[in-house]
Amino acid sequence: MSLNRKIGMWLYSNSGGDKIQKKIIKKLRERDIETINDIRLHDCIAQNGHIYYDKLKVDKLDLFFSYNAGEQTQYQMYLYQALNRVIPMINSYDAFALTEDKFHTSFVLRNEGIQTADYKLCHRDNGAALKKIIKQWDKMVYKPTDGWGGVGLTKIENEASLDMLMPFLNQMDLRYFYVEKFIKYDNTDFRVDVVDGEFVACYGRKANGTDWRTNITAGGSVFMREANDDIINTAINACKATGVDIGGVDIIYDLEKEEYIVLEVNGIPAFATPEQEKMGLDFNNKKIDLIVDLIDRKIAK
Ligand SMILES: Nc1ncnc2c1ncn2[C@@H]1O[C@H](COP(=O)(O)OP(=O)(O)O)[C@@H](O)[C@H]1O
Ligand SMILES: [Mg+2]
Repeated sequence: MSLNRKIGMWLYSNSGGDKIQKKIIKKLRERDIETINDIRLHDCIAQNGHIYYDKLKVDKLDLFFSYNAGEQTQYQMYLYQALNRVIPMINSYDAFALTEDKFHTSFVLRNEGIQTADYKLCHRDNGAALKKIIKQWDKMVYKPTDGWGGVGLTKIENEASLDMLMPFLNQMDLRYFYVEKFIKYDNTDFRVDVVDGEFVACYGRKANGTDWRTNITAGGSVFMREANDDIINTAINACKATGVDIGGVDIIYDLEKEEYIVLEVNGIPAFATPEQEKMGLDFNNKKIDLIVDLIDRKIAK
């Protein structure tokens, strides 16, 4: 039987990603779907209505599955956007680009009635607005809207620390300021994986020592943690609102409001690493099966 359905894939290889790739390719093959693996849009050339990866016309594939957070480039994102104008992609460019921006994500989530940290965005000329905000909020967090790994997040404890920070922010030639109310929480979060509207798994992350950020890159650690229905529904709704087929939703419990809030939706949530699998995080096969189902359905002929 000939394989008449063909997809392209670009998935990270580190931290066990190479094994995940092989499993996905095998499971797709069992459904007569061929995978052209490791297509790096960064190396592609666009020419007259086609995007070429060597001699392969990437735009003639039935779908492209893009899943590599670590090796993204501006050029790759630019071709991602172009490619998705002509073939389906997972995640869609629009949904992915949305989740790459913290303000746009919070804006959309709040618009859909999903709780987030209170936030404000203002033009950089409007430093006076920030002054007003800190009076109102007591503590806030300055966030680069396109950051990751907790990098660049700055806790502003009072007006004096805002006054100290302003000259630095002004020097950075930013277009705008995005700040969130500092949420009182227990320095742990829930990372909830969702594929195609279905709950895959949940684990927890705990900030290191006195740090208030749970990111692993900020010294945080992963621990086994179960989600309740409230958390699961919040995560599923957040993925639906942002339009991601695959999402990892970061949720914390606001001790003052006594409710769960969404901090961000990650469009390329990592599979469990070999070390995390040893800890008992055993969701990889379930996630792979849901992704294979999703691809199969999206390219049904
Ligand atoms: N408004 C907030 N109040 C308190 N802690 C926060 C707030 N926003 C983020 N954090 C902490 O900082 C971490 C990183 O923030 P996040 O918005 O997820 O950015 P990143 O993309 O860098 O991970 C979160 O995991 C959480 O521990
Ligand atoms: Mg985060």
